[in-house]
Amino acid sequence: MTFEELNINKPLLNALNDLGFTHPTTIQHKVFSVTMSGKDVCGIAQTGTGKTFAYLLPSLRQLQYSKDRLPQLIILVPTRELVVQVIEEVEKLSKYLTLQVVGIYGGGNIKVQMAELKSGADIIVATPGRLIDMAMNGTLKTKAVKKLIIDEVDEMLNLGFRHQLNMLLDLLPPKRQNLLFSATLTAEVEALMKVHFNDPVKVEAAPTGTPLSNIDQRLYKVPNFYTKVNLLDQLLEDESLSRVIIFTATKKLADQLFGQLEVSQLGKVGVIHSNKAQNNRFQTVAAFQDGTYRLLIATDIIARGLDIAEVSHVINFDIPETPENYIHRIGRTGRADQMGTAISFVSEKDQEYVEEIEALMKYEIPETSLPEGLKISEILTADEEPKVHMKNIVVKRPKMEDVGPAFHEKKAKNQKVNVRRDYNAEKAQKYGRPIKRSGKK
Ligand code: CDP
Ligand code: MG
Repeated sequence: MTFEELNINKPLLNALNDLGFTHPTTIQHKVFSVTMSGKDVCGIAQTGTGKTFAYLLPSLRQLQYSKDRLPQLIILVPTRELVVQVIEEVEKLSKYLTLQVVGIYGGGNIKVQMAELKSGADIIVATPGRLIDMAMNGTLKTKAVKKLIIDEVDEMLNLGFRHQLNMLLDLLPPKRQNLLFSATLTAEVEALMKVHFNDPVKVEAAPTGTPLSNIDQRLYKVPNFYTKVNLLDQLLEDESLSRVIIFTATKKLADQLFGQLEVSQLGKVGVIHSNKAQNNRFQTVAAFQDGTYRLLIATDIIARGLDIAEVSHVINFDIPETPENYIHRIGRTGRADQMGTAISFVSEKDQEYVEEIEALMKYEIPETSLPEGLKISEILTADEEPKVHMKNIVVKRPKMEDVGPAFHEKKAKNQKVNVRRDYNAEKAQKYGRPIKRSGKK
């Protein structure tokens, strides 16, 4: 099956041709005709198998020229980086079409985005929060919307986004087509989808959770942070780790790890998480994309959707707590039929998460033994130190009758006048020699 054989029009075919793409991927091929029929679609396919074009091709095919330039198609994604990426994909495919696409996302200048939206947009790519702002301030006109695409739909129906998503769904014309995509789908989300959408036709390239065979997975059992750092240093001596994303559990750990690698990987390592300014986030991804950075330390904020070419390795410095995120994280490598390697560091407390991940994939991640000469660190970080539980001491409040009147004479000890004490002299007297506190290092 080639793109020519799908019912794609000339401008799209020419654009695909310019990209050098002749054959649709399984999901692109399967989704096309169902989408053209107008039904709601839920497309499930593994990471890096072309879901973006799977929803863009039929959607752009059906887009109608309108001179009032009101949005006909809204694409929702969970992160700002994905907004930018999907816009780039729309632009690639619409090289021979005249259409306007606008990105609406938090952290960007709202005035600029409002002006862009007002000057006309056929397609909007957005994160939910900022799009709601645009509806509230009257800039977003929804009456011409015919299609809604939700990428990473399971994430978008998760608790973090659910409320915003519900608000948006209420703002859109009820008579519209919904296209929902992800590499993973939980039973809970599938049930929610039945409530919110019009009985979507499920189109699967592979069942949810199927690992990609072109990603080589392995794990190391590593006891603690500093030993993980030592192992990472040792692994990084191998040049074949040429473009590596390293995922940590939290922003704090991302920054801590950055502190450890900054010196040995001078100028070659970037860090991205949600506390970074948006400009910095975009610059960091760009520097990783163009090869300035060899390493990108990240939280799950970039676990989903990002299509960065030739990521050689994904390293889970910490194991993700939701098994689906493991699938998305390792899916940053081995995209579009390339080979990739995913390495996970597993500490004792992570073992149960590994079991959940393996159950989801129906695959046991092979264990590699720690390399010879690896320095096992005994030092623990403050967070790794066992927590001391202090007894909660309840301070008794004085009974009211003990307190006395509000205005009263100072008690004798409070009438003392402050006298400057010479502690060194006092100590010298006590110890029979001058004692000085050593200054701070
Ligand atoms: O969304 P998903 O993780 O399934 O993948 P994507 O972000 O759409 O990325 C697919 C990659 O494969 C992109 O780099 C595309 O340029 C490329 N590709 C494609 O989408 N379709 C083809 N027929 C051939 C290549
Ligand atoms: Mg995608």
